Amino acid sequence: MLILAIESSCDETSAAVCEFNGDSRVIRSNIIASQIETHKLYGGVVPEIASRAHCDAISGITYEALEVAGVTLADIDAIAVTSNPGLIGALLVGVNFAKALAFANNKPLIPVNHIRGHIAANYFVHADLKPPFLALVASGGHTSLIKVTGYTDFETVGRTRDDAIGEAFDKVGRVMGLPYPGGAEMDRLATIGDSTAVKFPSAAVVGDNLDFSFSGLKTAVINHLHNLTQKGEEYSREDVAASFTRAVTTSVVKKLGMACDATGLRDIVIAGGVAANSHLRAALEDFCQKRKLKLYLPPRSLCGDNAAMIAAQGYYEYLAGVRADTSLNAKATGK
Ligand code: KG4
Ligand code: ZN
Repeated sequence: MLILAIESSCDETSAAVCEFNGDSRVIRSNIIASQIETHKLYGGVVPEIASRAHCDAISGITYEALEVAGVTLADIDAIAVTSNPGLIGALLVGVNFAKALAFANNKPLIPVNHIRGHIAANYFVHADLKPPFLALVASGGHTSLIKVTGYTDFETVGRTRDDAIGEAFDKVGRVMGLPYPGGAEMDRLATIGDSTAVKFPSAAVVGDNLDFSFSGLKTAVINHLHNLTQKGEEYSREDVAASFTRAVTTSVVKKLGMACDATGLRDIVIAGGVAANSHLRAALEDFCQKRKLKLYLPPRSLCGDNAAMIAAQGYYEYLAGVRADTSLNAKATGK
Protein backbone atom coordinates (compact mmCIF):
# COMPACT_ATOMS: atom_id res chain seq x y z
CA MET A 1 0.00 0.00 0.00
CA LEU A 2 1.02 3.62 -0.55
CA ILE A 3 0.96 6.03 2.37
CA LEU A 4 1.25 9.81 2.05
CA ALA A 5 2.60 11.19 5.33
CA ILE A 6 2.77 14.73 6.67
CA GLU A 7 4.95 16.02 9.51
CA SER A 8 4.90 19.57 10.93
CA SER A 9 5.50 19.20 14.67
CA CYS A 10 8.41 21.63 15.03
CA ASP A 11 10.52 23.51 12.50
CA GLU A 12 10.52 21.13 9.53
CA THR A 13 7.63 20.84 7.08
CA SER A 14 7.83 17.40 5.52
CA ALA A 15 5.79 15.15 3.24
CA ALA A 16 6.63 11.65 2.08
CA VAL A 17 5.21 8.86 -0.03
CA CYS A 18 6.18 5.37 1.16
CA GLU A 19 5.25 1.93 -0.07
CA PHE A 20 4.56 -0.99 2.27
CA ASN A 21 3.96 -4.62 1.37
CA GLY A 22 4.28 -7.11 4.21
CA ASP A 23 7.79 -6.59 5.57
CA SER A 24 8.94 -4.51 2.57
CA ARG A 25 9.11 -0.77 3.31
CA VAL A 26 10.30 1.65 0.61
CA ILE A 27 10.65 5.44 0.70
CA ARG A 28 9.43 6.72 -2.68
CA SER A 29 9.89 10.38 -1.66
CA ASN A 30 10.72 12.26 1.53
CA ILE A 31 10.71 16.05 1.06
CA ILE A 32 11.84 18.23 3.98
CA ALA A 33 11.61 22.03 4.10
CA SER A 34 13.69 23.24 7.03
CA GLN A 35 12.98 26.56 8.72
CA ILE A 36 16.35 26.64 10.48
CA GLU A 37 17.65 29.70 8.60
CA THR A 38 14.62 31.70 9.81
CA HIS A 39 14.82 30.59 13.46
CA LYS A 40 18.61 31.05 13.57
CA LEU A 41 18.01 34.81 13.77
CA TYR A 42 16.31 34.29 17.17
CA GLY A 43 18.59 31.57 18.57
CA GLY A 44 15.76 29.02 18.76
CA VAL A 45 12.39 28.05 17.34
CA VAL A 46 9.77 30.83 17.52
CA PRO A 47 6.44 28.91 17.57
CA GLU A 48 4.30 31.52 15.80
CA ILE A 49 6.85 31.92 13.01
CA ALA A 50 7.05 28.13 12.69
CA SER A 51 3.26 27.83 12.25
CA ARG A 52 3.18 30.51 9.56
CA ALA A 53 6.11 28.95 7.70
CA HIS A 54 4.32 25.55 7.77
CA CYS A 55 1.22 27.23 6.25
CA ASP A 56 3.34 28.64 3.42
CA ALA A 57 5.18 25.38 2.71
CA ILE A 58 2.78 22.52 3.33
CA SER A 59 0.82 22.42 0.11
CA GLY A 60 3.87 22.78 -2.18
CA ILE A 61 5.85 20.17 -0.20
CA THR A 62 2.99 17.66 -0.35
CA TYR A 63 2.52 17.93 -4.11
CA GLU A 64 6.30 17.76 -4.55
CA ALA A 65 6.36 14.51 -2.55
CA LEU A 66 3.68 13.04 -4.84
CA GLU A 67 5.51 14.20 -7.96
CA VAL A 68 8.91 12.85 -6.88
CA ALA A 69 7.25 9.50 -6.04
CA GLY A 70 5.67 9.50 -9.49
CA VAL A 71 2.12 9.13 -8.16
CA THR A 72 -1.05 11.20 -7.81
CA LEU A 73 -3.44 11.45 -4.88
CA ALA A 74 -5.63 8.85 -6.59
CA ASP A 75 -2.86 6.23 -6.06
CA ILE A 76 -2.60 6.92 -2.31
CA ASP A 77 -4.23 4.36 0.01
CA ALA A 78 -4.04 6.30 3.28
CA ILE A 79 -2.84 9.61 4.72
CA ALA A 80 -0.78 9.64 7.93
CA VAL A 81 -0.12 12.78 9.94
CA THR A 82 1.78 13.68 13.11
CA SER A 83 -0.90 14.60 15.63
CA ASN A 84 1.22 14.81 18.83
CA PRO A 85 3.46 15.76 20.61
CA GLY A 86 4.98 19.03 19.39
CA LEU A 87 4.33 22.75 19.09
CA ILE A 88 0.56 23.06 19.05
CA GLY A 89 0.33 25.71 16.33
CA ALA A 90 2.81 23.85 14.12
CA LEU A 91 0.98 20.51 14.59
CA LEU A 92 -2.39 22.11 13.80
CA VAL A 93 -1.18 23.10 10.33
CA GLY A 94 -0.28 19.53 9.38
CA VAL A 95 -3.34 17.99 11.06
CA ASN A 96 -5.81 20.33 9.38
CA PHE A 97 -4.13 20.01 6.00
CA ALA A 98 -4.16 16.21 6.25
CA LYS A 99 -7.78 16.16 7.44
CA ALA A 100 -8.89 18.29 4.48
CA LEU A 101 -6.89 16.17 2.03
CA ALA A 102 -8.24 12.89 3.43
CA PHE A 103 -11.84 14.12 3.61
CA ALA A 104 -11.85 15.67 0.12
CA ASN A 105 -10.27 12.59 -1.47
CA ASN A 106 -12.06 9.97 0.62
CA LYS A 107 -8.88 8.41 2.07
CA PRO A 108 -8.39 6.87 5.51
CA LEU A 109 -6.66 9.24 7.93
CA ILE A 110 -4.12 7.88 10.45
CA PRO A 111 -2.92 9.97 13.40
CA VAL A 112 0.69 9.24 14.34
CA ASN A 113 2.66 9.99 17.49
CA HIS A 114 5.91 11.80 16.58
CA ILE A 115 8.08 9.84 19.03
CA ARG A 116 6.78 6.52 17.71
CA GLY A 117 7.61 7.86 14.24
CA HIS A 118 11.26 8.52 15.19
CA ILE A 119 11.56 4.90 16.33
CA ALA A 120 9.83 3.57 13.19
CA ALA A 121 12.39 5.31 10.92
CA ASN A 122 14.60 2.32 11.72
CA TYR A 123 12.25 -0.11 9.93
CA PHE A 124 13.29 1.32 6.55
CA VAL A 125 16.91 0.26 6.96
CA HIS A 126 16.82 -2.75 9.28
CA ALA A 127 14.84 -5.51 7.57
CA ASP A 128 15.26 -7.84 10.56
CA LEU A 129 14.09 -5.35 13.18
CA LYS A 130 10.95 -6.50 15.01
CA PRO A 131 9.52 -5.78 18.47
CA PRO A 132 10.18 -6.46 21.27
CA PHE A 133 13.08 -4.05 21.68
CA LEU A 134 14.26 -1.20 23.87
CA ALA A 135 14.27 2.23 22.20
CA LEU A 136 16.20 5.33 23.14
CA VAL A 137 14.61 8.44 21.65
CA ALA A 138 17.08 11.34 21.79
CA SER A 139 15.92 14.51 20.09
CA GLY A 140 15.57 18.26 20.49
CA GLY A 141 12.29 17.91 22.35
CA HIS A 142 12.36 14.40 23.83
CA THR A 143 14.58 11.99 25.71
CA SER A 144 12.97 8.68 26.59
CA LEU A 145 13.71 5.03 27.12
CA ILE A 146 10.80 3.08 25.72
CA LYS A 147 9.93 -0.59 25.90
CA VAL A 148 8.44 -1.47 22.51
CA THR A 149 6.54 -4.74 22.88
CA GLY A 150 4.61 -4.55 19.59
CA TYR A 151 4.52 -2.24 16.57
CA THR A 152 1.87 -0.17 18.35
CA ASP A 153 2.61 -1.14 21.98
CA PHE A 154 4.90 1.27 23.80
CA GLU A 155 5.77 1.74 27.44
CA THR A 156 7.97 4.62 28.56
CA VAL A 157 10.31 3.29 31.25
CA GLY A 158 12.61 6.32 31.58
CA ARG A 159 12.58 9.96 30.57
CA THR A 160 14.20 13.31 31.14
CA ARG A 161 12.81 15.16 34.12
CA ASP A 162 13.60 18.56 32.58
CA ASP A 163 15.51 19.53 29.41
CA ALA A 164 15.73 17.22 26.42
CA ILE A 165 19.15 15.99 25.36
CA GLY A 166 19.20 18.00 22.09
CA GLU A 167 18.04 21.10 23.95
CA ALA A 168 21.09 20.77 26.24
CA PHE A 169 23.41 20.50 23.20
CA ASP A 170 21.78 23.55 21.61
CA LYS A 171 21.83 25.70 24.78
CA VAL A 172 25.48 24.95 25.57
CA GLY A 173 26.26 25.65 21.91
CA ARG A 174 24.45 28.96 22.10
CA VAL A 175 26.44 30.12 25.14
CA MET A 176 29.62 29.26 23.21
CA GLY A 177 28.40 31.42 20.31
CA LEU A 178 27.37 28.63 17.94
CA PRO A 179 24.42 29.27 15.62
CA TYR A 180 21.11 27.46 16.33
CA PRO A 181 20.85 24.48 16.44
CA GLY A 182 24.33 23.87 17.84
CA GLY A 183 24.15 20.06 18.11
CA ALA A 184 25.92 19.17 14.87
CA GLU A 185 28.67 21.76 15.39
CA MET A 186 29.15 20.56 19.01
CA ASP A 187 29.67 17.10 17.53
CA ARG A 188 32.43 18.42 15.24
CA LEU A 189 34.14 20.45 18.00
CA ALA A 190 34.05 17.47 20.38
CA THR A 191 35.99 15.40 17.86
CA ILE A 192 38.90 17.84 18.11
CA GLY A 193 38.70 18.55 21.87
CA ASP A 194 39.96 16.74 24.97
CA SER A 195 37.04 14.99 26.66
CA THR A 196 38.88 14.81 30.00
CA ALA A 197 39.65 18.55 30.14
CA VAL A 198 36.70 19.48 32.39
CA LYS A 199 34.74 17.26 34.77
CA PHE A 200 31.02 17.90 34.38
CA PRO A 201 28.21 16.27 36.43
CA SER A 202 26.25 13.28 35.21
CA ALA A 203 22.82 13.61 33.59
CA ALA A 204 21.80 10.19 34.94
CA VAL A 205 19.47 10.76 37.91
CA VAL A 206 20.93 9.04 40.99
CA GLY A 207 19.05 6.00 42.26
CA ASP A 208 17.04 3.07 41.08
CA ASN A 209 15.27 4.81 38.21
CA LEU A 210 15.75 5.18 34.45
CA ASP A 211 15.45 8.97 34.31
CA PHE A 212 17.74 11.75 33.10
CA SER A 213 18.19 15.36 34.11
CA PHE A 214 20.02 17.43 31.51
CA SER A 215 19.23 20.76 33.12
CA GLY A 216 21.84 20.41 35.90
CA LEU A 217 24.56 19.36 33.46
CA LYS A 218 23.66 22.20 31.09
CA THR A 219 23.74 24.74 33.95
CA ALA A 220 27.10 23.40 35.17
CA VAL A 221 28.61 23.90 31.71
CA ILE A 222 27.12 27.37 31.34
CA ASN A 223 28.35 28.40 34.84
CA HIS A 224 31.81 27.10 33.96
CA LEU A 225 31.83 29.24 30.81
CA HIS A 226 30.49 32.34 32.60
CA ASN A 227 33.08 32.04 35.40
CA LEU A 228 35.92 31.89 32.92
CA THR A 229 34.50 34.77 30.87
CA GLN A 230 34.08 36.92 34.02
CA LYS A 231 37.70 36.30 34.97
CA GLY A 232 38.73 37.26 31.45
CA GLU A 233 40.13 33.79 30.84
CA GLU A 234 40.08 32.08 27.46
CA TYR A 235 38.56 28.65 27.11
CA SER A 236 38.72 25.97 24.47
CA ARG A 237 35.30 25.44 22.89
CA GLU A 238 36.57 22.11 21.61
CA ASP A 239 37.49 20.91 25.13
CA VAL A 240 34.18 22.07 26.58
CA ALA A 241 32.21 20.40 23.77
CA ALA A 242 34.20 17.17 24.21
CA SER A 243 33.85 17.16 28.02
CA PHE A 244 30.12 17.95 27.86
CA THR A 245 29.59 15.25 25.22
CA ARG A 246 31.44 12.73 27.36
CA ALA A 247 29.19 13.52 30.33
CA VAL A 248 26.15 13.07 28.07
CA THR A 249 27.24 9.79 26.48
CA THR A 250 28.34 8.29 29.82
CA SER A 251 24.96 9.15 31.33
CA VAL A 252 23.03 7.70 28.39
CA VAL A 253 25.05 4.48 28.39
CA LYS A 254 24.54 4.12 32.16
CA LYS A 255 20.74 4.41 32.05
CA LEU A 256 20.52 2.32 28.90
CA GLY A 257 22.44 -0.45 30.69
CA MET A 258 20.08 -0.23 33.66
CA ALA A 259 17.08 -0.30 31.30
CA CYS A 260 18.41 -3.47 29.62
CA ASP A 261 18.79 -5.11 33.02
CA ALA A 262 15.32 -4.00 34.13
CA THR A 263 13.51 -5.09 30.96
CA GLY A 264 15.65 -8.05 29.91
CA LEU A 265 15.56 -6.73 26.33
CA ARG A 266 18.64 -7.33 24.16
CA ASP A 267 17.73 -5.45 20.96
CA ILE A 268 18.43 -1.73 21.20
CA VAL A 269 17.03 0.87 18.82
CA ILE A 270 18.22 4.48 18.73
CA ALA A 271 16.15 7.30 17.27
CA GLY A 272 15.83 11.09 17.03
CA GLY A 273 17.98 14.00 15.90
CA VAL A 274 20.71 13.41 18.52
CA ALA A 275 21.12 9.84 17.22
CA ALA A 276 23.20 11.57 14.51
CA ASN A 277 25.87 12.40 17.13
CA SER A 278 29.04 10.52 16.21
CA HIS A 279 30.30 10.24 19.81
CA LEU A 280 26.99 8.91 21.07
CA ARG A 281 26.89 6.41 18.20
CA ALA A 282 30.44 5.27 18.97
CA ALA A 283 29.73 4.96 22.72
CA LEU A 284 26.57 2.94 22.05
CA GLU A 285 28.35 0.67 19.59
CA ASP A 286 31.07 0.03 22.14
CA PHE A 287 28.56 -0.59 24.94
CA CYS A 288 26.42 -2.97 22.87
CA GLN A 289 29.45 -4.89 21.65
CA LYS A 290 30.71 -5.37 25.22
CA ARG A 291 27.29 -6.43 26.49
CA LYS A 292 26.60 -8.54 23.36
CA LEU A 293 23.43 -6.58 22.59
CA LYS A 294 22.13 -5.99 19.08
CA LEU A 295 22.23 -2.29 18.18
CA TYR A 296 20.04 -0.69 15.50
CA LEU A 297 21.07 2.83 14.51
CA PRO A 298 19.16 4.89 11.95
CA PRO A 299 21.10 6.43 9.05
CA ARG A 300 21.83 10.13 9.74
CA SER A 301 19.40 11.08 6.95
CA LEU A 302 16.48 9.60 8.96
CA CYS A 303 17.51 10.83 12.45
CA GLY A 304 15.97 14.31 12.23
CA ASP A 305 12.30 15.13 11.69
CA ASN A 306 10.93 13.78 8.41
CA ALA A 307 7.62 12.48 7.11
CA ALA A 308 8.87 9.05 5.98
CA MET A 309 9.19 8.02 9.64
CA ILE A 310 5.54 9.07 10.14
CA ALA A 311 4.55 6.90 7.16
CA ALA A 312 6.43 3.92 8.69
CA GLN A 313 4.62 4.14 12.01
CA GLY A 314 1.41 5.07 10.16
CA TYR A 315 1.55 1.74 8.34
CA TYR A 316 1.54 -0.23 11.59
CA GLU A 317 -1.14 1.99 13.13
CA TYR A 318 -3.21 1.37 9.97
CA LEU A 319 -2.75 -2.40 10.30
CA ALA A 320 -3.83 -2.11 13.95
CA GLY A 321 -7.05 -0.42 12.79
CA VAL A 322 -6.24 3.09 13.97
CA ARG A 323 -8.27 5.70 12.04
CA ALA A 324 -9.26 9.32 12.62
CA ASP A 325 -12.12 11.39 11.29
CA THR A 326 -12.52 15.12 10.87
CA SER A 327 -12.77 15.55 14.64
CA LEU A 328 -9.03 14.77 14.92
CA ASN A 329 -7.22 17.43 16.92
CA ALA A 330 -3.53 18.14 17.51
CA LYS A 331 -2.10 17.69 21.01
CA ALA A 332 1.06 19.32 22.31
CA THR A 333 1.72 16.53 24.79
CA GLY A 334 1.65 12.75 24.80
CA LYS A 335 4.11 9.90 24.86
O1 KG4 B 1 14.57 14.88 16.13
P1 KG4 B 1 14.86 16.30 15.82
O2 KG4 B 1 15.10 16.69 14.39
O3 KG4 B 1 13.72 17.24 16.34
C1 KG4 B 1 12.94 16.98 17.47
O4 KG4 B 1 11.99 16.14 17.38
O5 KG4 B 1 13.25 17.58 18.51
O6 KG4 B 1 16.12 16.71 16.71
C2 KG4 B 1 16.74 17.97 16.62
C3 KG4 B 1 17.87 18.02 17.63
C4 KG4 B 1 18.48 19.40 17.80
O7 KG4 B 1 18.57 19.68 19.19
C5 KG4 B 1 19.85 19.26 17.18
O8 KG4 B 1 20.84 20.13 17.71
C6 KG4 B 1 20.17 17.82 17.49
O9 KG4 B 1 18.95 17.15 17.23
N1 KG4 B 1 21.25 17.27 16.68
C7 KG4 B 1 22.43 16.85 17.19
C8 KG4 B 1 23.23 16.43 16.10
N2 KG4 B 1 22.49 16.60 14.94
C9 KG4 B 1 21.28 17.11 15.33
N3 KG4 B 1 22.87 16.82 18.47
C10 KG4 B 1 24.11 16.34 18.68
N4 KG4 B 1 24.93 15.91 17.67
C11 KG4 B 1 24.53 15.94 16.38
N5 KG4 B 1 25.33 15.50 15.42
ZN1 ZN C 1 11.54 14.89 16.26
